[in-house]
Amino acid sequence: MGEPAEDLGYATDLEVIERLVPLSGQSLIDVGCGDGALARVLVERGATVLGVEADPIRAEANCAAPTAERVTLVEGVAQALPVADGSVDGVIFSKSLHHVPEADMAQALVEARRALRPETGYLYVFEPMVDGPFSDLLRPFHDETDARRAAREAMRDLVPRLFAAEREVRYTITAEFDNFEALVSRMVGHTYNEYQRQDIETDAVRSRFETGRDGDIFRFDQPMRGNLFQTDAAVVRV
Ligand SMILES: C[S@@+](CC[C@H](N)C(=O)[O-])C[C@H]1O[C@@H](n2cnc3c(N)ncnc32)[C@H](O)[C@@H]1O
Repeated sequence: MGEPAEDLGYATDLEVIERLVPLSGQSLIDVGCGDGALARVLVERGATVLGVEADPIRAEANCAAPTAERVTLVEGVAQALPVADGSVDGVIFSKSLHHVPEADMAQALVEARRALRPETGYLYVFEPMVDGPFSDLLRPFHDETDARRAAREAMRDLVPRLFAAEREVRYTITAEFDNFEALVSRMVGHTYNEYQRQDIETDAVRSRFETGRDGDIFRFDQPMRGNLFQTDAAVVRV
């Protein structure tokens, strides 16, 4: 697991998921599903999705949201998935493995493997990389370097023992904002971060924000890393 060899260029998270793994007809778990936005999009692509969210406030809001066919959002944790052994086709961590407490990351990966069909299952983990203009913009108040490194180390240590094959890609997403207030609005109010407006409205963040100016808008690239692990080497897509 060195630097990702395969660079897919600019792409959205969803475009990369669609390129790497089958979705239609698949039963998936979206671990750390947040508000369930990705789970719903995966359902639109033909999957059946169980979204598991650890944060009780977010999970309660998910339960109160309108229901939709083939998507179920529940409260739970990555390290104890509420499914039977070998019962799902895919497990996806969308920017969530680095939010699992470090002491539980290994167990979260073991759980994903337990939940997957032994012959054909896949685990796909995608995370922001620690470098790049968007991470640099946020770093004064939101430095996830250690957590992202811990997630990567947990994968590196465990995955060769749990999975038969792996593929690693990198790609770049772009965050766009009309103005500084749009950045502030995007960063506050998440239950998994506790930033206040005053943590963000600082000279350090404002001056970094100016570096992203592109005409009337502000753009910041964020390199992403995607790690796909398969239970059986024979089913790796290339
Ligand atoms: C950065 S958010 C990503 C949300 C969503 N997956 C997305 O892509 O927008 C990380 C999520 O992981 C959740 N989380 C943290 N620890 C978790 C755990 N142990 N098990 C499941 N989810 C967890 C957080 O509550 C939060 O919703």
